[in-house]
Amino acid sequence: DTAAIPHPPWRVPFVGDVVGTSLRTPVQDTMKQGSGLGPIFTRRFLNREVVFVAGAALTAELADESRFAKHLALGVEELRGIGGDGLFTAYNEEPNWKAAHDVLLPAFTQGAMRAYHPAMVDVTAELVGKWDRGGEVDVSADMTKLTLETIGRVGFGYSFESFRREQAHPFVSAMIGSLRYAQRKSFQFPWARKLFGRAAEERNRADVAYLAQVVDEVIRSRRGSEGTDLLGLMLSSGALDEVNIRNQVITFLIAGHETTSGALSFALYYLSRNPSVFARAREEVDRVWGSASEPSFEQVTKLRYVRRVLDESLRLWPTAPGYAREARVDTVLGKRYRMRAGQWALVMLPLVHRDPSVWPEPERFDPDRFAPEQVKARPAHVYKPFGTGERACIGRQFAVHEATLALGTVLRRYDLAADPGYRLRVKEMLTLKPAGFSVTPRRR
Ligand code: HEM
Repeated sequence: DTAAIPHPPWRVPFVGDVVGTSLRTPVQDTMKQGSGLGPIFTRRFLNREVVFVAGAALTAELADESRFAKHLALGVEELRGIGGDGLFTAYNEEPNWKAAHDVLLPAFTQGAMRAYHPAMVDVTAELVGKWDRGGEVDVSADMTKLTLETIGRVGFGYSFESFRREQAHPFVSAMIGSLRYAQRKSFQFPWARKLFGRAAEERNRADVAYLAQVVDEVIRSRRGSEGTDLLGLMLSSGALDEVNIRNQVITFLIAGHETTSGALSFALYYLSRNPSVFARAREEVDRVWGSASEPSFEQVTKLRYVRRVLDESLRLWPTAPGYAREARVDTVLGKRYRMRAGQWALVMLPLVHRDPSVWPEPERFDPDRFAPEQVKARPAHVYKPFGTGERACIGRQFAVHEATLALGTVLRRYDLAADPGYRLRVKEMLTLKPAGFSVTPRRR
């Protein structure tokens, strides 16, 4: 029953809350429309009404796994066309979710991260090789090279040769095309789909076919050899069929790089804008890494302040900006809103992470919010950039280690001169990243 839930003031009969919305920026539109509406609100698109959760307390309640579970909503459901029954897009009750989760969990332990560390260092060295050549760099483009290369090599023993190319690997453009298609499709009106859909659909089919071709190439180049990386575990377990393995590979190639790339890009943006944060982070890297030519696994895990910079960047711009939760049973949310089993709500992380009841001066960038005493003083389950519960991000430690290593490496080696006139613009393709942000790295 959504009648009691607030909605934007300009609801138009038949079409719904379309004033001020664009297919390119659904998240930022929802942030604007939702501000001032409180911890929960609805938006209507034609006859479809979506409930958005913007408050920290309701988000914490939705984390209760006995009453709520993951729901595949909107854009994520559209991604089934790419990821099928892979981990990210599997339905809770699909047996392949548990099968693959059990096979892959050992690949994400602390011990596994330690084993991946040398390869992550190698890829970071390639970024340094590029930045040492001098000149202005497009931050998001280079972070995408770094993260795609890392998941390719670490997860699958496959190099996209990202740093040997001028342009991004075609995998990236095909992926962007298909993500954008999923984003548009999930918000588009059916009549618009009929009018404009044919060409877009065909392009999407070509993109998805190309992604599958790359995945087959990754798998083919490995058949026979085993190994303990993601692909090795899947091939040798015997628990997963061939189609599912393909779905997992494509899932990991996409989920394993797109969000981390955005997170690194936002962190570098905030570092370039906050000289005192930059100085403190650099001081930590100098102190912890000393004169080591390359950092050890432990030396990366000891960068506590750099880690806070990353956490704070993901608070303001959670690069996976939301997730959906459905009621497992008939229940009441926030003592007020009845939900029947199966009904769902979308947790809007950029709003939740700005809830002023939990985050004073929410727009201010302040890594100290993640100092241990401040974390302890906050309620649980109000900071959720990696999702929640059983279906939370399996790659969290992977992303954190990779990103902390990369940030530490950059901080230790370069001053970052950014265009002072640049104003943050956020680009959306289901995930978020800064658009048009470049810096000129200079060796210290
Ligand atoms: C799930 C965020 C990095 C693989 C998720 C979810 C979120 C998320 C919010 C839950 C989605 C939902 O409930 O619908 C992020 C962010 C990352 C990141 C912000 C980087 C900063 C990674 C990396 C990998 C990865 C590096 C792989 C190496 C996955 C997978 C799932 C997932 C496979 C599905 C898990 C399941 O349902 O069993 N991620 N992720 N992610 N993520 Fe990540």
